[in-house]
Amino acid sequence: MTSAIQVKPISGALGAEIDGVDLASDLSNEAFDQVHQAFLDHHVIFFRGQHGLTPEKHKAFGRHFGTLNVHPYVKGMEGHPEILEIIKEPEEKTNFGGGWHTDMSFLEEPALGSILHAIEVPPFGGDTLWANQHLAYEALSDGLKETLEGLTAIHSAKGEYGPKGQSALNRQSMEATAAPDAPEFEHPVVRTHPETGRKGLYVNPAFTLRFKGWSRRESRPLLNYLFEHSRQEPFTCRFRWEAGSVAFWDNRSTWHFALNDYHGHRRHMRRVTVNGDRPF
Ligand code: SIN
Repeated sequence: MTSAIQVKPISGALGAEIDGVDLASDLSNEAFDQVHQAFLDHHVIFFRGQHGLTPEKHKAFGRHFGTLNVHPYVKGMEGHPEILEIIKEPEEKTNFGGGWHTDMSFLEEPALGSILHAIEVPPFGGDTLWANQHLAYEALSDGLKETLEGLTAIHSAKGEYGPKGQSALNRQSMEATAAPDAPEFEHPVVRTHPETGRKGLYVNPAFTLRFKGWSRRESRPLLNYLFEHSRQEPFTCRFRWEAGSVAFWDNRSTWHFALNDYHGHRRHMRRVTVNGDRPF
């Protein structure tokens, strides 16, 4: 049965669709190993037709990879605090995740990965994009790589979950707590993937505030350069959702962006976020 698993890359940069896996079933060790290897090789993996993935099974799949995160600022699903219901109603204008970011880099131990299940999708639009941060790092000059290796960045949720970000978060469909005093944590600007040993950039426009020991004003030009650089098209892939689709991405090596181009239609997703370890 496990030999039926097929891994089909969807772009040259990252992302692969996996056929022949029912995430709601008990995966054999062999099937699990194949899925895990595809996750490490392709950084984001996609499964279609996962209509049997109940909240319990969704969490059970996530627990194969680690403990599950309960979001500190966004209220989880009723009875399932580990599941974020990411909903945009037809009359709402803003969406959740509508800017390039990596999940939970504002924590001391940021997320390993996120598993997003599409419940209801708009008839057009609402795609998600990912960008490979290993490729972004590898494309830099040796001189800039060397400079960045010596730098630490300060991350916090205080911008996105502060007054500026509230309009995107606090809508009728999602409830978020304001966090203007959210703590700051330090992470290396170049991070080594704990499972593959590959280096990648680890700053993002949503949660990286400045470099350690630099003012915000001094940090801005170099951060802006990295933010522009890291999202270039050759580093990206784009996924068209169907109801029942699942994406599982590695937050240690990717950014993602939820497109907000389907006004007047409903989009409903459920996300389980797997806790990770301290970046080094
Ligand atoms: C997110 O940032 O986790 C949301 C992604 C999406 O809704 O496509």
